[in-house]
Amino acid sequence: MKPLGLGVLGLGEGRSIISGGLQSDLWQVVRLCDLNEQLGHERCHEFGLDAAVFTNSMDVLLADPAVDVVGIYTPDHLHADHVIRALQAGKHVICTKPFIDNLTRAAEVVAAVQASGKRVMVGQSSRFFPPFARQRKHYETGAFGELNSVEAYYNADHRWFLAKGWAKTDAFKWLYGGLSHPVDFIRWYLPNIEEVMGYSRLSENGAKLGLVHADTFHFIYKTTDGKIARVSGTYTSPVTPNARDANMSCVLRGSLGASQGDYYDLRYAWKTDEQSVIETFEDKDDYVFRFGGHSHHAGEYQDYIEYFARCLANDEMPTPDVREGIVTVALMQAMEEAAASGGPVKVRELLARYGLEELF
Ligand SMILES: NC(=O)c1ccc[n+]([C@@H]2O[C@H](COP(=O)([O-])OP(=O)(O)OC[C@H]3O[C@@H](n4cnc5c(N)ncnc54)[C@H](O)[C@@H]3O)[C@@H](O)[C@H]2O)c1
Repeated sequence: MKPLGLGVLGLGEGRSIISGGLQSDLWQVVRLCDLNEQLGHERCHEFGLDAAVFTNSMDVLLADPAVDVVGIYTPDHLHADHVIRALQAGKHVICTKPFIDNLTRAAEVVAAVQASGKRVMVGQSSRFFPPFARQRKHYETGAFGELNSVEAYYNADHRWFLAKGWAKTDAFKWLYGGLSHPVDFIRWYLPNIEEVMGYSRLSENGAKLGLVHADTFHFIYKTTDGKIARVSGTYTSPVTPNARDANMSCVLRGSLGASQGDYYDLRYAWKTDEQSVIETFEDKDDYVFRFGGHSHHAGEYQDYIEYFARCLANDEMPTPDVREGIVTVALMQAMEEAAASGGPVKVRELLARYGLEELF
């Protein structure tokens, strides 16, 4: 299989996909792009890449025939524009979460995908974190029977994130940034969420640090077939010790058993009538966490770009695809509207407002 040429747009978290691409036989990192030239030079130096690989112009990256796939790691509110431009240039796209940050340009994104015939995958990194990947495979064996409910959360003390310029602007929302991980977990297991209710608030810490939007969330969901789920997260205050709080967790409760995937300490626990087991994946620590302590997890990125490459080679649709990605964005927008109104919001009706009802 000929390695795919990767062009990376946005070199903050883009660092992780660069690392994944460089360590993979299925990829060749051919272009890096960022408006910040100093950062570009730092990244070339960090990864031993020729300085000529870097450009500060997205047009140059898109015009490069060696780029087969554009990895988009720019701030959330720019994703829709960057996805559309990459598709119009005839490139496949891997876009980090959140895929887009509201539904305003969703129909345009769908049209651009259809016109291009190219593949688009949302980089939902957490699906590739070893305990969550194991949980999914285990679930698919049927070991837990019929799902009854799902609970997911992501709590993190991300006060450090507010050093980034865009984090304190109106464009930045933790609801789409941090919470998109546990929201995606729930849709992975319960794709047909029809209604959401919940609350959000901006904590005292967040307000003091200059955040514009909420940083604290609790929501509940109902599916079209009557299952229920809940999701929560906080982002600007301390979390409890890792021994008690996995930071990110996904719990499945089924007719035959229950299971829990945990970020800390790469732990997976499950129970049926016959067995009660705790597995750990600490041997994957060095592979997953390559730099930046536990805040960056490049191993997941390597796994998801290798999955994408295999899908392309086998002419399969990588997931989450555009449809799944946009309905997840619709769910997050429904959560935002539910918190603002204090009442339930139906996802299908929200999609219909944007002419996207057929995606539901
Ligand atoms: N686990 C994950 O999947 C994960 C983790 C962290 C961040 N992210 C996502 O990655 C994205 C970037 O976050 P970040 O923390 O790296 O932010 P960041 O601000 O550190 O980096 C964004 C970079 O994009 C560059 N940029 C902005 N506009 C550009 C343009 N038009 N052309 C080229 N470069 C441009 C900026 O100069 C900046 O260096 C966000 O969408 C975030 O949600 C995903």
